[in-house]
Amino acid sequence: NTVFLLYGGVSSEHDVSVLSARSVVENIYYEYHDLVPVYITKQGRFLSGASLTAPLPDSTSLYLEEGSTPQWRQAKTSVGVPLDWRRLQADNVIVFPMLHGTNGEDGTIQGWLETVGVPYVGNGVRASASAMDKIISKQIFADADLPQVPYEWIDDTAWKMQAARTDFLNRVKGGLLYPLYVKPANAGSSIGITRVTEDAKLADAIDFAFHYDDRILVEQGVPNAREIELALLGNRDDLNMSVPGEIGKTRSFYDFNAKFVEGQTKLIIPAKLPEETTSQLEKIAQTAFMELSAAGLCRIDFFVSDGGDVYINEVQTMPGFTQYSMYPYLWQHTGINYGDLLEELMTLGQK
Ligand code: DAL
Ligand code: MG
Repeated sequence: NTVFLLYGGVSSEHDVSVLSARSVVENIYYEYHDLVPVYITKQGRFLSGASLTAPLPDSTSLYLEEGSTPQWRQAKTSVGVPLDWRRLQADNVIVFPMLHGTNGEDGTIQGWLETVGVPYVGNGVRASASAMDKIISKQIFADADLPQVPYEWIDDTAWKMQAARTDFLNRVKGGLLYPLYVKPANAGSSIGITRVTEDAKLADAIDFAFHYDDRILVEQGVPNAREIELALLGNRDDLNMSVPGEIGKTRSFYDFNAKFVEGQTKLIIPAKLPEETTSQLEKIAQTAFMELSAAGLCRIDFFVSDGGDVYINEVQTMPGFTQYSMYPYLWQHTGINYGDLLEELMTLGQK
């Protein structure tokens, strides 16, 4: 079959997506698939070339800018030309939207693929949209009685009104304990997020988060929290869970640079946890998957406190797939290598 790999995208996580796609190009089984990489520029242009029949050599760039010299080694012609999307409406086609964040992980591309009737890997519109929005997902988790940290949220209209703003700041200062994390409702890879430890810095952090979205939230931090993640693979009837992984930290806040640029993250797999905590995490993960109507895959991120209290933090519906990423590592340690993982996801996407 033909796999259209969408990557890049109009998202603050564009660069992570390029790295994720690069790993797919290196690991997909070419004996079963023709791979057509489709680069979505930061302006939202879809560019594609001829299909790949083998991994790219290491030095080959995955970026295709319009008008630039073609970089795909195997492609002879038609590299970096606007994608004619009717190519997707052929037989034996599947789309792999390896896109993170807005315009890719948030249900928008999934909605378009539903509309044009093309099978695709991973979560549908509703799961993607609700998991991407940190306020909506918290409301869904609260309805299901899942444990999470206390939080408050506000939109930019209210923030601009003096009375509503004062009321919000009072609720935060009166109800939540420092350290606080101020976050845009929709954004990934820690972008737009500030850790705040005193009243004086709160308003600036909120203004900063509003650069990324028109709704923001303030969360209470869990002191000395461990960050534990579980990878899920399958569907409602047959859901598989990886062993838990832990993000070993060398700094108090695991920001974008630590995650993706410096590669200075230590992934501890399996995380050392009491059996009882692990089964608690598994139960929460299963409920979150069901409540979101997730499909195919997701990574569920937790905080675990010193005292063993467990909180669900958020769900990634298209988690990072780079060489440093937790999701593929977790499956590797659970017995599924990267290539087999891609096969399984594409099989699930055909269902
Ligand atoms: N949102 C990024 C890609 C991750 O959490 O893996
Ligand atoms: Mg994300």
